[in-house]
Amino acid sequence: SELALTPEQAAMVRRVIVVACGTSYHAGLVGRYAIETWARLPVDMDIASEYRYRDPVIEPDDLVIGITQSGETADTLAAMRLARERGAHVLAVTNVMGSQATRDADSVLFTRAGLEIGVAATKTFTSQVAAIYLLGLWLAQVRDHIDRERVAELVGELKALPRKIEETIDSCDRQVRAIARSHAEGRFFLYLGRHIGLPVCLEGALKMKEISYIPSAAYAAGEMKHGPIALLDETTPVVCIATDMPVLDKMLSNVAEVHARGAAVIAIGTEGSDEVAATADQALFVPRTDWILQPILAVVPLQLLAYYTARQLGRNVDQPRNLAKTVTVE
Ligand code: AGP
Repeated sequence: SELALTPEQAAMVRRVIVVACGTSYHAGLVGRYAIETWARLPVDMDIASEYRYRDPVIEPDDLVIGITQSGETADTLAAMRLARERGAHVLAVTNVMGSQATRDADSVLFTRAGLEIGVAATKTFTSQVAAIYLLGLWLAQVRDHIDRERVAELVGELKALPRKIEETIDSCDRQVRAIARSHAEGRFFLYLGRHIGLPVCLEGALKMKEISYIPSAAYAAGEMKHGPIALLDETTPVVCIATDMPVLDKMLSNVAEVHARGAAVIAIGTEGSDEVAATADQALFVPRTDWILQPILAVVPLQLLAYYTARQLGRNVDQPRNLAKTVTVE
């Protein structure tokens, strides 16, 4: 409806560029896997505050997607304006009708997640990811890179996700509370992921630092040996995203390496994964779905972990210190 980009224009797009900040950037990172896999379009990602000052190369057949929950984030708006001035089609993915982003963009896709009160984005992240999945499927169809059966299958899986999110909350809640109790006094959390699990671990680490104030870092698991492994000792909780993905075996060897260093491995796996149960100290399972959609489920235990850890420490989970819901200045 709000998508002014016609199928004919979409068929001419040569590259997608995503600009966003914070959690919205992480949603874009998930979207990159979907758009590249389904629509076979290259996707460049950029943090809006970097993009706007980089004098980036922008072509008229670029589709620039600005992802912003509030639609008012100064850096994202500036990046979108720059892209528009240089002739790209700019699409805003936002949760707020009438926001500045809706006025600055050529097209708008609303996430319709409802008002989000807490400063830390949770449901709006999930909805951004879902919106970009739908966009990716649409681009794949108009560009003729996906067959009808696969689209129907993925749409069926997408429709099942709300129920599976509820199942995830029900099945993980008690265990996550216990994990939070045992690690809330820790001084550092490390998050590891690879492939589609990488944006999930970035988002989990952001949630942890935002609301619990415990320092956390997120890394591509393949980077471990290039430095971060030096951080590990027996006191370090390491959260590993090991849900279904094309490189799950590689992720599992990373988990085994971390385990061998004596760190406390908290792994998120897809239900029925015996390897995850065998390698982790604490395994949390999410329902099975198509691997590309797993981030929507895998992020839920990480949001819960940040929440219960923050609660355990007596933090204000809705209004963390120093943070504003919307960053309207640089
Ligand atoms: C999310 O938990 C953060 N509060 C923050 O990173 C946020 O995602 C970022 O400021 C972007 O906001 P926007 O989506 O409204 O543009």
